[in-house]
Amino acid sequence: MPEANRVLILNGPNLGRLGVREPEIYGADTFADLVEAVAGWGSELGVEVDARQTDDESQIVGWLHEAVDARAHVVINPAAFTHYSYALRDAAAQVTTSGLLLVEVHLSNPHTRESFRHYSVVSGVATGTIAGFGFQSYRLALQGIAARLA
Ligand code: DQA
Repeated sequence: MPEANRVLILNGPNLGRLGVREPEIYGADTFADLVEAVAGWGSELGVEVDARQTDDESQIVGWLHEAVDARAHVVINPAAFTHYSYALRDAAAQVTTSGLLLVEVHLSNPHTRESFRHYSVVSGVATGTIAGFGFQSYRLALQGIAARLA
């Protein structure tokens, strides 16, 4: 698989709790189910996916640096970091300014929720944003990346 077809799928805090955490918002499926789903979509679309989750801001910043150095595209659900982490935004900017794609995804549609969720510090440096489709948000993001790479 060419290096340019690698996609890191990065997930921020509390997303390891999928299935237990507010299932009325995030659904009953677990993070392990998400990993399995993205692996299947990746092979259908011809992209090599590597899905990870952390509750740690410095870890997700480090993974964004890794994406730049390894020339991997990124699908990222920054979770709550979306709304206030300038460190994450600055790291995400390094991905897109180095010519790689970065798609911000959300399971829910933050714009329909509390006002503090209405602003994303990441969107302004992302290639695009997909929100509100549950796990399908990730599939749509991978389709967008695959279409750009085709
Ligand atoms: C989320 C939305 C965020 O506001 C929230 O903090 C999350 C999940 C989503 O996927 O809908 O943890 O990113």
